[in-house]
Amino acid sequence: MTRLIVADGSERAIAEAARIIRTGGLVAFPTETVYGLGADATNPVALARIFSAKERPTTDPLIVHLATPDVLIELTREVPPVARRLAGAFWPGPLTLVLPRARSMPTLLASGRNTIALRVPAHPLARSLIVAAGVPIAAPSANRFSRPSPTTAGHVLDDLSGRIDAVLDGGPTSVGVESTVIDCTGSVPRVLRPGAITLEQLRRVVGTVEFAPRYVADATQALPAPGTLSRHYAPRAELWLYRGPRDLVLARMRHDRATWLAAGITVGGLVLSGDEAAFGAEPWPCEVLGGQRDPSAVANRLFAALRAVDGRGVDRIIARSVTGQGLWLAIEDRLVRAADGRVVTLTATAQPA
Ligand code: TXA
Ligand code: MG
Repeated sequence: MTRLIVADGSERAIAEAARIIRTGGLVAFPTETVYGLGADATNPVALARIFSAKERPTTDPLIVHLATPDVLIELTREVPPVARRLAGAFWPGPLTLVLPRARSMPTLLASGRNTIALRVPAHPLARSLIVAAGVPIAAPSANRFSRPSPTTAGHVLDDLSGRIDAVLDGGPTSVGVESTVIDCTGSVPRVLRPGAITLEQLRRVVGTVEFAPRYVADATQALPAPGTLSRHYAPRAELWLYRGPRDLVLARMRHDRATWLAAGITVGGLVLSGDEAAFGAEPWPCEVLGGQRDPSAVANRLFAALRAVDGRGVDRIIARSVTGQGLWLAIEDRLVRAADGRVVTLTATAQPA
């Protein structure tokens, strides 16, 4: 049985969740990005339970969450100056630093690598929980492996009910996409996963930052970095992503929807506000994400909307891609991976079929 612990502002809720962590249990808890599935990062048995609850391959390492940067020195072999500057600028907050791992920390955290991923979350409940537990908390996103990340306690229960000890319910998360993961072990810091802290923000603090996303289609190939499988964040329905000039894309989406509906294939949509009219006045299973000028709103709604449309039982979901800077990079990354290769790219000269 999975207990729902409502964070009602009392010390009791946090104390109960912390007790479960300290005794080797699993507690999902809110961070500012998404809900994490937490366990004592120093307890290899508890860590192994995270992987089995999520059905996550042990080759995909975990992020360790800290209440303050003070303990950094105990968990790492070395903190390069670049990492110090990034931590100073963005912690507490949605940035994860990959650093050389102290030998005292369990190898399972890093799937045998000699590194460790660390972040100090900004969410007050997350920080209170880590302080009360008295140990660093390892936490991947609290979804089943390859499903969309959870932004509410309800999403966590949908995926993990009966598989974990408790969920600390602190309401919906604010950012909605995960932290940016940056590898600080090389000569130039390298973004492994675009996220809530943008490349522009990182470059303002440390100058050069590498980013070269490369995803591979199946787990039998060597991964360029952990967590780079192309199929990720996937709904049950097939997500189709459309890229190109807005008018062309909307016309093609409408056309494909009509063709599929005629063939008996049910279709839902993730729609940017302002685009609704393109799909006509008839109700259809769609979720409005937010406007093209407001990537924060889109990020905040993205995973919940994906789960909601998917929950309507449609066969396919269509979405318009917005390539751009800032937070759009993280949003696009999640959509491309949820689409698992089903990306239709249109150019101004190629007329839609
Ligand atoms: O916002 C977030 O980061 C959320 C909240 C709960 O903190 N956590 C999260 O964890 O998204 P997870 O496990 O779903 O994603 C962690 C990513 C994975 O892509 C993993 O491969 C990468 O971080 N990662 C973890 N440890 C690493 C390491 N030592 N080296 C390289 N990548 C690592
Ligand atoms: Mg995840």
